Amino acid sequence: MRYPLWRTAVFICAMVWPLLWLYQAWQDALGPDPGKVLVDRLGLGALVLLLITLSMTPLQKLTGWAVWIAVRRQLGLWCFAYVVLHLSAYLAFILGFDWSQLGVELRKRPYIIVGAMGFLCLLSLACTSNRYSQRRMGVLWKKLHRLAYLVLVLGLLHMLWIVRADVKEWSIYASIGALLLVLRLPPLARRIPRLIAKKGTSAKKA
Ligand code: HEM
Repeated sequence: MRYPLWRTAVFICAMVWPLLWLYQAWQDALGPDPGKVLVDRLGLGALVLLLITLSMTPLQKLTGWAVWIAVRRQLGLWCFAYVVLHLSAYLAFILGFDWSQLGVELRKRPYIIVGAMGFLCLLSLACTSNRYSQRRMGVLWKKLHRLAYLVLVLGLLHMLWIVRADVKEWSIYASIGALLLVLRLPPLARRIPRLIAKKGTSAKKA
C-alpha cells in the first residue's frame, strides 16, 4: 500500500467528526433537537467530503504529486459513509422509522427526493469503486464515475432547497463546486498549469 501515512491521516480526520458529534449528543451538547443537528452535520460533512474528493485530480495536475490520487478513492468512500449515516440519522431521528409517514414526509420535504437520487448515484459509485470493477468495466467505469459531478449538483440543489433564503454559506460550497466543474471541461483541464516542476526538470533546463 502506497502512502500509508496519508491514508491513515485521511482515515483519522474523516472518522473523528461523527465520533465527536455522537459524543456531543451523548453529553447533551447539541441543543434541544440533537437528532436534527446530527442529520444536518452529517449532510454538510458529506458535501464537504465530496468537494474534497473532486479537488484531488486538479490538485494532482497542479502539483504533480501522486498522493492526491492515492487518497481519492478513500475520500469518496468516506463521502458515501457520511451519506449513509446522514440517511440513517434521518430515518431514526426525524422519521422515527415510521414508514407510514414516508408519503407525508416526501410531500412536506420534496428535497428528500433530490437527496435520494444523489444517494443512489453514490451507491453505484461505491459498489464499483474496487479495482476488480475498474478492470472489468474499462472505459465505462470512467464514464460511470463522472456521476460524482451529478451527485455534487444534486447535493447542492438539495441543500439550497433547505436553506432557501439564507444562501450565504451555500454560495461558498456552490462556488467551489462550480470551479471544480469548470476545471473538468476538457479545454481547461488540459491547461491546468503544473505549479511545481517535476523532479529533475529544472536541473535539466539549467
Ligand atoms: C436519501 C438520501 C437523503 C435524505 C433522506 C436526506 C435528508 C436530509 C434532511 C432531512 C436534511 C435536514 C433538513 C433540515 O434541516 O430541515 C438534510 C440536509 C442536508 N443534506 Fe441530505 N438527505 C439525503 C441525501 C443527501 C446527499 C446525497 C447529500 C450530499 C452529498 C446531502 C447533503 C445535505 C446537506 C448539505 C444538508 C444541509 C445541512 C445544513 O443545513 O447544514 N443529503 N438532508
